Amino acid sequence: MCSIVTIANQKGGAGKTTVTMGVAGTLGLRGHKVLVVDADLQATASRWACAADEGQPFPVAVTGLAAAGAKLHREVRKFLNDYDYVLIDTPPAMESSAPQSALLVSDLVLVPVIPSPADLWSAQGILAIIEGARVVNESLRAFLVPNMVTHTVLGRESVEALAEFGLGVTETSLGHRTAYREAAIEGNTIQGLGKRAKSAISEIEALCDRVMAELE
Ligand SMILES: Nc1ncnc2c1ncn2[C@@H]1O[C@H](COP(=O)(O)OP(=O)(O)OP(=O)(O)O)[C@@H](O)[C@H]1O
Ligand SMILES: [Mg+2]
Repeated sequence: MCSIVTIANQKGGAGKTTVTMGVAGTLGLRGHKVLVVDADLQATASRWACAADEGQPFPVAVTGLAAAGAKLHREVRKFLNDYDYVLIDTPPAMESSAPQSALLVSDLVLVPVIPSPADLWSAQGILAIIEGARVVNESLRAFLVPNMVTHTVLGRESVEALAEFGLGVTETSLGHRTAYREAAIEGNTIQGLGKRAKSAISEIEALCDRVMAELE
């Protein structure tokens, strides 16, 4: 059975593509058959995979489906027999109906969120979309993934504030680390960066464990 995971948020820049490619790359390295559906016109996920060295290709397939819009859920169904996991990287929900469509067929939605008041407020919009999708997709699970977390008192307090948001929060957050940017530029997995990305590697492995456990 193929599991479908959508990565969505209301606004841009919270880390959707970073989480998508991090988790997808980890699943791929673990030997699973993984497809990333790039539903964003900006094509950041597609560019990430294209930037890879010929000698070390990104270990998952990426397909661009930004043109599908509200028909995305139908297009995604066509791939389900060929993959263990399909991860859908979406554009900001305030700009597109792709997230709404993707959630109709998803098992799980990950909402990366930067723990700051402004980002928290804007994330409210995705809550409404998730509730809407649950009217038809009752078993849709969802959790917040704190991203760009800083190890300060404010950072900790902000993560605690996420718990009041109405969705589950992963205990596996991602820190603010250059490794995530470097991986995107190099077209690499986080793991492919090696020793210099030690902390990011353990974060993304833990997040992948959490995602797999949720889907069991
Ligand atoms: N944990 C992190 N540490 C450092 N930089 C990060 C982290 N997460 C994301 N970034 C960087 O922040 C920028 C935005 O991240 P990303 O592209 O993943 O967000 P997005 O939600 O997909 O944005 P968009 O809505 O534009 O698609 C990128 O340059 C990315 O490399
Ligand atoms: Mg993106």
